[in-house]
Amino acid sequence: MSEIINKKENTTQQAEKPWNGRFTEPTDAFVEAFTASVTFDQRMYQQDITGSIAHAKMLTHIGILNEEECQQIVEGLHTIKNTIEAGQFNWSIKLEDVHMNIEAALTDLIGITGKKLHTGRSRNDQVATDIRLYLRDEVDLIVTELKRLQTALIDLAEQEAETIMPGFTHLQTAQPVTFGHHILAWFESLERDHQRFLDCRKRINVMPLGAAALAGTTYPIDREFTAQLLGFENICENSLDAVSDRDFAIELTANAALLMTHLSRFSEELVLWASAQFNFVELSDSFCTGSSIMPQKKNPDVPELVRGKTGRVNGHLISLLTLMKGQPLAYNKDNQEDKEPLFDTVDTLKGSLKVYADMMQHIKVNKQVMHEAASRGFSTATDLADYLVRAGVPFRDAHEVVGKAVRLGIDTQRDLAELSLEELQDFSSDIKADVFSVLTLEGSVAARDHLGGTAPNQVRSAVKRARLRIAH
Ligand code: ARG
Repeated sequence: MSEIINKKENTTQQAEKPWNGRFTEPTDAFVEAFTASVTFDQRMYQQDITGSIAHAKMLTHIGILNEEECQQIVEGLHTIKNTIEAGQFNWSIKLEDVHMNIEAALTDLIGITGKKLHTGRSRNDQVATDIRLYLRDEVDLIVTELKRLQTALIDLAEQEAETIMPGFTHLQTAQPVTFGHHILAWFESLERDHQRFLDCRKRINVMPLGAAALAGTTYPIDREFTAQLLGFENICENSLDAVSDRDFAIELTANAALLMTHLSRFSEELVLWASAQFNFVELSDSFCTGSSIMPQKKNPDVPELVRGKTGRVNGHLISLLTLMKGQPLAYNKDNQEDKEPLFDTVDTLKGSLKVYADMMQHIKVNKQVMHEAASRGFSTATDLADYLVRAGVPFRDAHEVVGKAVRLGIDTQRDLAELSLEELQDFSSDIKADVFSVLTLEGSVAARDHLGGTAPNQVRSAVKRARLRIAH
């Protein structure tokens, strides 16, 4: 008796599973939750529905479904989409993932025709398609935010083309540079990131659908037809590869890790510059927080957090590489683990870019303080050496002359430009009255007047080129 009841319970419990026919025992409740992905992959519902609609249209095009069935499926899927967006869809862990939840809901809604949708398809090519469609959309959003940040940097560089700051190596004052030039250095890193995202989009935008479980399908499918409906530029050439590799997702995450690393370095500078010790910039109050105990504090939380969040994206890259490294062909359930790192990568990156683009539009630059800092630390010493070389002194001898002049400056607490002509001439008779034009900060930056140099007019033309470079 109890056996019969159990058997009956099993049957009810199993009723929803597509593999019901093969199994005699129900899934363990914990295993059901452990293997399910619906709690996180429901994020791809739109892509899943878009992919299914295209698949249904292709099946109709080749005569597997008739027009009426196709219309029922398409309308049913639209209804499901609306239900999800209204927050009224009942996601079930028993149905494991976004794909089976939507398919089951379709069958509930339109009956037997719903069961025909999965013809010539497997969840293996379905999920690979969904991720690619999802990442394609996300790359476009990432690029939009990135360009907004790049534009903010270009605007700032243009505004600060003549502002002088100390340039650093080893975080020691090295030579004066213009602040606009410094900001454009960050633009260059971000522009390479921009190009990397555009480039990886090409490898994301390739269609796996048609690979089915791993070997392709016996139906006379028209993959070009489906690809065109979904806006895929190319079609995966090999069915085993199509369902198996997630290299495109790893590539995107690697690009994200590099971009976050750039933002992290930039953050480090902003944190330093916003400190009382540097006082080069002031971040807007709306991007900082105070301290609950120290009334004087204004903390640069946004750059600090972006610097901190770089760690999780770098971690996701390692997760995905490790996820892939031991997998034989073709699909393995391991791949279900690609989603959480990917989703968090995308969220973290988009959030960091957004907050950075907004913050950089409101940064206040303390030009006076920067200029003051550049005039300390003998930042024009190299200019004096170059001056002597132009007067015929070999560079090594010039280096020594300048070293002595710096020594005098240190001993008497004066910058090179503050030494008298007579004092300078004691070190070398090749020094003439015109030397002071190279010892000033303005003269120093203006002299570096070549492509890629720090001179204000070079910054202005770099700004013009930068605007054109991000336009497409
Ligand atoms: N939820 C699965 C994933 O994310 C979908 C594919 C499952 N395929 C399978 N044969 N179990 O990878």
